Amino acid sequence: MSAVLVTGGAGYIGSHAVFALRDAGRDVVVLDDLSTGFAEAVPEGVPLRRGDVADTAVVSRILHEDKIDAVMHFAGSISVPESVSDPAKYYRNNTCASLALARTCVEAGVNKFIFSSTASVYGNPEANPAPEDTPKRPFSPYGWSKLMTEQILEDLSFAHAAFRPVRLRYFNVAGADPARRTGQRNPDAAGLVKLAVETALGKREILEIFGDDYATRDGTCERDYIHVTDLANAHVAALKYLDGGGPGIVLNCGYGRGYTVLEVVAALEEVLGRCLNKRRAGRRPGDPDRYIADPTRVRATLDWRPQHENLAFILRTALAWAGALP
Ligand SMILES: NC(=O)c1ccc[n+]([C@@H]2O[C@H](COP(=O)([O-])OP(=O)(O)OC[C@H]3O[C@@H](n4cnc5c(N)ncnc54)[C@H](O)[C@@H]3O)[C@@H](O)[C@H]2O)c1
Repeated sequence: MSAVLVTGGAGYIGSHAVFALRDAGRDVVVLDDLSTGFAEAVPEGVPLRRGDVADTAVVSRILHEDKIDAVMHFAGSISVPESVSDPAKYYRNNTCASLALARTCVEAGVNKFIFSSTASVYGNPEANPAPEDTPKRPFSPYGWSKLMTEQILEDLSFAHAAFRPVRLRYFNVAGADPARRTGQRNPDAAGLVKLAVETALGKREILEIFGDDYATRDGTCERDYIHVTDLANAHVAALKYLDGGGPGIVLNCGYGRGYTVLEVVAALEEVLGRCLNKRRAGRRPGDPDRYIADPTRVRATLDWRPQHENLAFILRTALAWAGALP
């Protein structure tokens, strides 16, 4: 029987995808170098191959020996501010490593490929909600490293018609598996929801609100938050789409509704029934004012309906995973 290779399957989103694939009855193999991932995030019975996606010898062996017929490629480096201070790391680990992986897949005849891209490819989109054909003007090396990979995958699909890459542009991913099987484990992850939850738990003294002079309704950045389990299920739906012969495609993954930083904090305070310790701070490099997905295409293309399209639910599952709720 064939299996799905999940690169970065020991990480936050990848581990949710591994559970979603297993729940859908698929065989899974994880390839992860554990640079920001955790072996314990990989469920029992799923082989964890420790290695670098850029290592073509390791990848070819896995593709062959584990009878891989589709790849979900989550592995990468994810910090926008770090990409501004160390761009070479991002072009190496996101762009060059993805090129090596994709080439190895093409050579091995593994043609179903699902790639973790990002709303950062849009920069500050000129329209919100942003459809997929919005002009791409990334603000950061992180966004460029992902946009370049999207282009590489598209060019490979032109040259090798059987190779069909689905490029999923995630908006802001948050929350945790409602069954608490996995969640955000990385202490260095810096998403708003995680930082706010840590402040609620007293692990962080104060929540900093970066920038209050953005072009949004209250001056703080506005984002489209998607529950990580809905996103994981979108990957399973993308795999079914490829199984059914669907061609390569780019799809936004978001709900089509934005919340500002202050609105997210207020929603968390409501769930908790108390105020968070917070203060306003300066802007961070690489943060655009607002981005909200136009999800029309993903809803029309995939057999996928979000189950957790609710900010309070996203926050509750993040709190529960962190141990802040019974
Ligand atoms: N978290 C978000 O909000 C978000 C938004 C848009 C896109 N993404 C993309 O989703 C993917 C997963 O993000 P995440 O939040 O789960 O991050 P994460 O850091 O939790 O997971 C990344 C995983 O990849 C592994 N890894 C990194 N480089 C590797 C390499 N060269 N070879 C093998 N393994 C490697 C890490 O050890 C880790 O387990 C990334 O590609 C990221 O760019 C994330």
